[in-house]
Amino acid sequence: MRDEIFSQRNDLVDFTFDAQVADVFDDMVRRSVPGYQSMIEMIGLCVKTYGQNNTNYYDLGASTGATSLALGINNPHANNQIIAVDNSPSMAEKCKHNLDEKLDNAKIICADIGAIELDNASIVVLNLTLQFIAPEERQSLINKIYQGLNKGGALIVSEKIHFNNKSKQQLMTDLHLDFKRANGYSELEIAAKRQSIENVLITDDKDTHFQRFSKAGFDISTCHFQCLNFASFLAVK
Ligand SMILES: C[S@@+](CC[C@H](N)C(=O)[O-])C[C@H]1O[C@@H](n2cnc3c(N)ncnc32)[C@H](O)[C@@H]1O
Repeated sequence: MRDEIFSQRNDLVDFTFDAQVADVFDDMVRRSVPGYQSMIEMIGLCVKTYGQNNTNYYDLGASTGATSLALGINNPHANNQIIAVDNSPSMAEKCKHNLDEKLDNAKIICADIGAIELDNASIVVLNLTLQFIAPEERQSLINKIYQGLNKGGALIVSEKIHFNNKSKQQLMTDLHLDFKRANGYSELEIAAKRQSIENVLITDDKDTHFQRFSKAGFDISTCHFQCLNFASFLAVK
């Protein structure tokens, strides 16, 4: 379904992942996040390299299940369970609907990712989710993920990022706006969404991500993909 939420909304409240957003999410994310499809394809590559037999793969903030699907269909390993977690009941319902018919090893949990236990994990993905977690809770979440990962396992984090250099920040913001315009969003929709999401989606710069991975204990972390102001990071235990 096409995302026209902000062409109709004039009651500007903070953005939430409610039923209306869940209905249009697949269209919204593709028209708003530059490189989204490649981001998902990279997750498929990572599961081949870092997945391990007899382990769990966690998709935290799964939304409609695109990441879980990439983990499932690209998985060459044996006896894995995919655990997709989202605290939005509408998203969890859509995720279940999308995955049930395509994967036989996926479990969908409607819960806060801060409250779940992770164990025997070889892959954990936070694809565009960490940015919605309160900044003061991010380090403890990454620490918990590190503890739940097996040696040799990987965490993949994709985020909108900001740049401390003002000119670079402006350049990337302008290109991102052009990306949205090119994908059919009007000036009104772009402005309304920005106002609705600005208190909810809080970006970090790249260094903050690297410092957080290192503080949690990850030996290696790198930015393996970037398209404009969206980046994916790979951290290996
Ligand atoms: C931008 S979407 C993620 C997109 C998805 N990972 C993908 O690859 O298409 C962010 C998701 O995180 C979920 N979320 C945000 N905070 C959460 C939390 N504390 N616990 C669980 N899910 C959360 C939202 O409900 C939403 O579905």
